Amino acid sequence: MKGSQKVIDCLNELLAGELMARDQYFIHSEMYKDWGYEKLYTRIHHEMGDETEHSRQFIARILLLEGTPKMVPEALSIGHDVPSMLKADLDIELKVRDNLKKGIVLCEQENDFVTRKLLVEQLLDTEEDHAYWLEQQLRLIDEMGLQNYLQSSAA
Ligand SMILES: [Fe+2]
Ligand SMILES: [Fe+2]
Repeated sequence: MKGSQKVIDCLNELLAGELMARDQYFIHSEMYKDWGYEKLYTRIHHEMGDETEHSRQFIARILLLEGTPKMVPEALSIGHDVPSMLKADLDIELKVRDNLKKGIVLCEQENDFVTRKLLVEQLLDTEEDHAYWLEQQLRLIDEMGLQNYLQSSAA
């Protein structure tokens, strides 16, 4: 089913963000594992799976609309310690949120309500799961201090 080229281009931009988020969670989860922060590893490894599924949904939708998925991730921003990693991940989620919102508006203009539904579902995941959890962690670090937070994050 031929889709709007504007929607396909938008989906490709969103796909680049999901692939980047997936890769960033991939490296960050392995860093947590290497440092012995098992709980952070488990959570972020799970997040990598979520972003892989988001990417898969975009790829499938682009193919259905007879477009070509561009498998090129945006540039990563890899942190160097736990707070900078959490912050870098939150920055990604907030950027993804803004891009999803723009995409939703575009889908309405182009009358593509099925793609719109897909974007709304990912927006829900982004706001209420990923970004919310990262904001909670940064708040916990503020309130309990970094060392206490790190102690609670180790196995
Ligand atoms: Fe995502
Ligand atoms: Fe996410």
